[in-house]
Amino acid sequence: MMKSKIALHWLGHCSFWLAAALVGTAAAAETVPAATEQDREWLLGAPPEPAHNRSTPERIELGRALFFDPRLSGNGTVSCGSCHNPALGWSDGLRTGVGINGTVLGRATPTVVNTAYNTQFMWDGRKKSLEDQALGPMKTPEEMRTDLAAAIELLGRLPGYQSMFAKAYPGEAIGEETVAKAIAAFERTVVSNDSRFDRWVSGDRRAITAQEWRGYQLFKDPAKGNCVVCHAPPNFTDNGYHNVGIAHPSGAEDLGRYKIRPAAVLKGAFKTPTLRDAELTAPYFHNGAAANLADVVAHYVRGGDDRSNVSKDVRKLDLDAREQADLVAFMKTLTGAVRAASIPALPQ
Ligand code: HEC
Ligand code: HEC
Repeated sequence: MMKSKIALHWLGHCSFWLAAALVGTAAAAETVPAATEQDREWLLGAPPEPAHNRSTPERIELGRALFFDPRLSGNGTVSCGSCHNPALGWSDGLRTGVGINGTVLGRATPTVVNTAYNTQFMWDGRKKSLEDQALGPMKTPEEMRTDLAAAIELLGRLPGYQSMFAKAYPGEAIGEETVAKAIAAFERTVVSNDSRFDRWVSGDRRAITAQEWRGYQLFKDPAKGNCVVCHAPPNFTDNGYHNVGIAHPSGAEDLGRYKIRPAAVLKGAFKTPTLRDAELTAPYFHNGAAANLADVVAHYVRGGDDRSNVSKDVRKLDLDAREQADLVAFMKTLTGAVRAASIPALPQ
């Protein structure tokens, strides 16, 4: 009797240590290698600002108000934030954008996140800067159909805006230029640089899991994913244009960059998008052809669909199901801390 009691007691101890050992192993398996000096090239510094439009709190606040103000559209219903919705990763969750009066646009709405770091703007790079881009949607009849003269006259009449412009751009008129500059200053605050991946790169080995770390290796490995040739550090884009083999239904062909620069290699080439916060911006590609990140990876694994002018870097990939899941898991580490969608009360 006595003997078995001791044995039981002993067994109890054993299972305690056994459990502790197992927990230890699990934790060890989750600890991934430390980031190397080379991994630090992914760290984003502060976004650059043009000399003629340095950011100030007043400029950013003015730009925030303008970005979310539907009174700037032709019928008072559409703002930049209608399509670049903070709750939807600063995109719209749609295959392609939908403009004023429900007009379906030809291309997907890209995120505004980290456009501060871009050197090329729009899917085909037809805009040179955020300032250069900002009035485009207002002037486009299918998007906001703004009567710019009337909109600027309205801004000049509202005391709330009068004082905001005076503080943001003292000595400059309320006009197209200051509207564009304020919107651009606001967009430069929409930054994702605090993801779990960034924390791992900065030295926190517990910020990503073993699976996510494996996905990162596949992302970089020239013999595996080879994604990094285009989705390059630090913002997961080379700011270049590539044809990745997206098929277009007949009647919906899109030549992309070629329409801006007619070089044969650019037929069907589009700007490499950032992958930061990509988890939040499904569906994917310039025409919304991929419903989720697994579909995107499957697209690359089969080497694209329309291979008539595809980039030499898009070819069938040797990635099994587990590796494909690892790549998706890695991309989800690029989501920054969700930024509060502080939609302002509109100036009166
Ligand atoms: C009707 C939906 C819609 C509205 C409204 C809209 N956008 Fe867009 N935005 C898009 C689409 C679609 C594109 C891509 C078009 C293309 O590349 O041809 C785009 C592209 C952009 C880009 C380029 C992003 C990149 O990665 O190159 C920026 C910046 C941007 N919009 C900011 C704005 C601002 C500022 C406003 C308000 C003045 C605005 N948008 C209003 C749909 C919209
Ligand atoms: C040859 C350059 C190139 C390579 C290689 C490449 N990409 Fe891309 N990627 C692009 C371009 C360009 C686009 C936009 C294409 C389009 O919409 O027509 C894109 C789009 C994407 C998107 C959609 C983003 C969005 O906002 O719509 C994801 C996700 C993505 N790539 C992930 C990957 C992964 C993962 C790999 C590796 C398996 C990879 N890419 C390899 C250039 C590349």
